[in-house]
Amino acid sequence: MNTKDKKILFKEKYGPWALVAGASYGLGSAYSEALAQHGLNLVLLARGKEQLEAEANRLREHYAVEVMCYAIDLADYEKAKSIITNLNLPIGLLVYNAAFAPIGLFENISEEQLNLTIAVNVKTPLLLAKLMSIPMIQRGKGGIVLMSSLAGGQGSSRLQTYAATKAFNAILAEGLWKELKPRGIDVIGCIAGAILTPNYQKAEKTKSAPGAISAEKVAKKTLMALGKKPIIIPGTVNKIAHFLMTRLLPRRISINIMKNKTGGLS
Ligand SMILES: NC(=O)c1ccc[n+]([C@@H]2O[C@H](COP(=O)([O-])OP(=O)(O)OC[C@H]3O[C@@H](n4cnc5c(N)ncnc54)[C@H](OP(=O)(O)O)[C@@H]3O)[C@@H](O)[C@H]2O)c1
Repeated sequence: MNTKDKKILFKEKYGPWALVAGASYGLGSAYSEALAQHGLNLVLLARGKEQLEAEANRLREHYAVEVMCYAIDLADYEKAKSIITNLNLPIGLLVYNAAFAPIGLFENISEEQLNLTIAVNVKTPLLLAKLMSIPMIQRGKGGIVLMSSLAGGQGSSRLQTYAATKAFNAILAEGLWKELKPRGIDVIGCIAGAILTPNYQKAEKTKSAPGAISAEKVAKKTLMALGKKPIIIPGTVNKIAHFLMTRLLPRRISINIMKNKTGGLS
C-alpha cells in the first residue's frame, strides 16, 4: 500500500477528529503535527494559552485541517469532560500525553504534588479513555494512545510516584487493547525512554540518557504501531534496556540501575 492510501485509511479509522491532551510543545506538539499530516482535525488541550494558540495557528497554516484549542489543567477531569461533551464532535482518537513528574525523595514530595500526579497521570487519562471510548464503540472504530515510560518498568528512586503512574498506563493500555480490539478500537501504550522534549531537557542536568530520541520519532513510531500491537517501545536501545530491566535482571538490580539513572534529574 502506498503512503497516500495509508493516510486515507488512518483518517478513515481514527478521524475525522483527534484529541491531544497535552499538546502545546514537545511530544504533544509532535503528535499533533503527525496527526495533522494525516489530515485529522484536532482538539488540542494544555494549560498555557499563548503557546497552545500559537501551536493551533501554526497547524492551521501548514495543513488543511480544523484545529480547536482549550487552555485547561488536565488535573481537572470534570472541566475536560465538559469541553469534550459540549463539543459533541466525532473524535476518533485520544492521545493522552500530559504528565506531571515530581522529582525527589518521597519524604520531600508534598501531598498536593502526589494528588496532582494521580490526577494528571492516572485519573484523567483513565476517565477520558472511558468517556471517549463509548462513542468509539458505537461507531465501531477509533484509537487510544496512552503514554508510559521506561521508568515504569521497575521502581524508580526519586521518581517513585511518577514511575508507578506510568506502570498504570502501560497495564491499562494492554487491558484495553484486548477488550476494545473486537469493538474496532485500537489501543496502544507507548513505553518511551528519554525523549528530547523541553521538559526532559530541563530535568536532565547531566548529558542525555543513551537512546534519547526526538519527539517526532516517538510520535511517528507510536502512531504507525497503533492497531498492530498493545505496546511500543520506540528506539532500539530503549527496547533492549526494557528487556534487560524487566525480563532478564533481578528486580533489585534493575531498581539500582534506575536509581543511578534518575540521580541526575532535578
Ligand atoms: N520526555 C521524556 O524523556 C519522556 C520519557 C518517557 C515518557 N515520557 C512521557 O511522554 C509524555 C510527554 O512528556 P514530556 O514531559 O516530555 O512532555 P511534553 O510532551 O514535552 O509536554 C507536555 C505537554 O502537556 C501539557 N501539560 C503538562 N501538564 C499539563 C496539565 N496539567 N494540564 C494540561 N496540559 C498539561 C504541556 O503544556 P502546558 O505546560 O502549557 O500545560 C505540554 O503541551 C508524558 O506522558 C511522559 O510521561 C516522556
